[in-house]
Amino acid sequence: MSIILGAFQTMNPNGTVGVSWRHPENTSLEYLTIDYWTRLAKQLEGGGFDFLFFADSYGYPTDANGNTIAQGLIDATNIPMADPITLVAAVAAATTTLGIVVTSSTQVERAPAVARRYGTLDHLTKGRVGWNVVTGAAQAASAALFGEPMMPHDERYAQAEDHVSICLKLWEGSWEPGALIADKELGVYADPTRVHQIEHNGKYLSAKGVYGIPPGPQRSPFILQAGTSGAGREFAATYAEMVFIGGGDTDKIAEQIADIRARLEANGRGRNAIKFVVGAHFIVGTDVADAARKRADMLALATLEQAATTYTWLTGIDLTVFPQDEPLPDLHTEMGQSALDRYLNPATGVRKTPRMILEEFRSNGINGTVFEGDAVTVADDIETFLARVDADGFLVQPHITPGTYDDFIGLLVPELRRRGLLADPSSEGTLRSRLFPGGGDHLPDNHLGSSFRVAGPAAGA
Ligand SMILES: Cc1cc2nc3c(=O)[nH]c(=O)nc-3n(C[C@H](O)[C@H](O)[C@H](O)COP(=O)(O)O)c2cc1C
Repeated sequence: MSIILGAFQTMNPNGTVGVSWRHPENTSLEYLTIDYWTRLAKQLEGGGFDFLFFADSYGYPTDANGNTIAQGLIDATNIPMADPITLVAAVAAATTTLGIVVTSSTQVERAPAVARRYGTLDHLTKGRVGWNVVTGAAQAASAALFGEPMMPHDERYAQAEDHVSICLKLWEGSWEPGALIADKELGVYADPTRVHQIEHNGKYLSAKGVYGIPPGPQRSPFILQAGTSGAGREFAATYAEMVFIGGGDTDKIAEQIADIRARLEANGRGRNAIKFVVGAHFIVGTDVADAARKRADMLALATLEQAATTYTWLTGIDLTVFPQDEPLPDLHTEMGQSALDRYLNPATGVRKTPRMILEEFRSNGINGTVFEGDAVTVADDIETFLARVDADGFLVQPHITPGTYDDFIGLLVPELRRRGLLADPSSEGTLRSRLFPGGGDHLPDNHLGSSFRVAGPAAGA
């Protein structure tokens, strides 16, 4: 078995625990320069990572009245957040095999624009681009910024089905294989009889027209999803090829993955049609004491206040207003439900108190799952964990850049290779064909997107 490795980043100077931009060794204040990202991308590619992932959201921490939480700005918690799609071409130019995955929200973007943007990037990256489809974290602030009411949670996923269907129709159903002629002698660029108009008449979104560019190497970019509410799981089982799972309670993670695998089978896609990648934090030291020292360093920059801001950003719920030592009451949110569910209904059945949740957020950040120790200890723990939850790999969530990756690549990767847990670092090809070896460059025939094809299996542009 080969472990899939992705790196989690946002275009924000913090990592995923505390106020890490203040750490003396962190170079992350350079996050608005191209060099910072191309340097990191080369390090990841050389270090055996499959892809670099940019999370993104227009939502920033706001209180119940929609006002900016001042501490958010002071700490740089999810604000600032620059637009990572702008980096993809630069990262692609600096690398040759690394996948590049970027989040775009179905609430914020318009489907034909997303289709053309990721379709263009599929060419520019030579088939290495992936789209993380989200209905959006911190939706209240995001909707307000765009001057719209916040759409209720499950409705956002219903709208997302229209959104992704339009994209898939444009990618799969507009340009037939062979429609691109580009023959100077003949004087024909594209064969108009083989470029079709797509039509989508949905409850929320409609579209009619042709796709503006010939399809790229993957035709549809590799499709990912993050968000494990009930509606999110069903959406994943229809559209996703990879799902990001938030860390935390091991039984809960195992339950989420088993449930989505069952839904995949019910949808006729087969239980292995999705790769499951768990967001986790790794503190690897030269020995156990070195790792413990690094963690203590990290926690010195993590406060309960910042933990509360992050939790509010994710769920819209301010944990500081509840009695701190009583189990949380039943709560509901129309924002992100995964982070709420993680604590209200853990598989253990134990309801946590606000203090416990905030302390957990303070020490683990959004990671939930933390692996700490020397390389052998962490590699042992990784093997046990993956077998227990039936996942395929990790999204490595940083604290210090490049420090987290220096340790991961310098100390842990050699141990993983020694155990045969990492694939050949030099393998080239599209992101899809690397993550599903032998599966080809395009969506498999049992994916909904394939049903939109006009003339047999898409063999290329
Ligand atoms: C590893 C990981 C990465 C995520 N990345 C994003 C992201 O980039 N943008 C975003 O809006 N939500 C992201 N999410 C999902 C949100 O946390 C949130 O769960 C989701 O947007 C709301 O859907 P839900 O109610 O189904 O959880 C990510 C989740 C995980 C576990």
